[in-house]
Amino acid sequence: MNKPRLNLVVLISGSGTNLQAIIDAIAANKLHATIQAVISNRPDVKGLQRAQAANINAITLDHTQFENRAAFDQQLIQEIDLHQPDLVILAGFMRILTDEFVAHFNGRMLNIHPSLLPKFKGLNTHQRAIDAGVKQHGVTVHYVSNELDGGPLVLQAVIDANTNDTAESLQQRIHQQEHIIYPMAIEWVAQKRLEVIDQQVYLDKQRLEGPVKWINNQLVN
Ligand code: GRF
Repeated sequence: MNKPRLNLVVLISGSGTNLQAIIDAIAANKLHATIQAVISNRPDVKGLQRAQAANINAITLDHTQFENRAAFDQQLIQEIDLHQPDLVILAGFMRILTDEFVAHFNGRMLNIHPSLLPKFKGLNTHQRAIDAGVKQHGVTVHYVSNELDGGPLVLQAVIDANTNDTAESLQQRIHQQEHIIYPMAIEWVAQKRLEVIDQQVYLDKQRLEGPVKWINNQLVN
């Protein structure tokens, strides 16, 4: 009999290259999960096409059709719950979440943010990193809390920022890293190696003092 797989619902707003990386990792048997649905708050985005191409249920829930944030989030909770996910994956989902939404999926929702959190929360992270003259930059997988881009940190890919880097060149290199570390962290959940208890992250039952690092294609603990 096949081992039970982790059920995922993936939320997107756009291009969905992280979604694609997850789809590809599943196809390559590197990630033992099933994407039950992909939900976008924007219609006609590339990520929805990617889901359809992979025969995944692709759903649009257009936030502009709702009276307010709370009404949208309530509907989104219902839609997600229909698919009974073990884990909700935010993959470029460009929405601020209500506390109700975050509480509902507490401990079972991951996000990926393109900076070395807690640095550079919010938008335009690559340009802001350049403006700040950082020597290192990166991307973080974290559990979601009700603080924007807050929540317990799990895994960070770290790259060197060069003096000739532009926001575009950083974004490109960081995207490559995202596509490695997001499926990796999700697989840790699938393997029951990763869990969060009282806002503390545990990997293989060991409490993490800080995020695990992925540097030069290696895990550094
Ligand atoms: C990524 O940079 C991710 O870190 C951020 O949103 C972007 C989504 O890109 N949260 P894509 O839609 O997966 O290509």
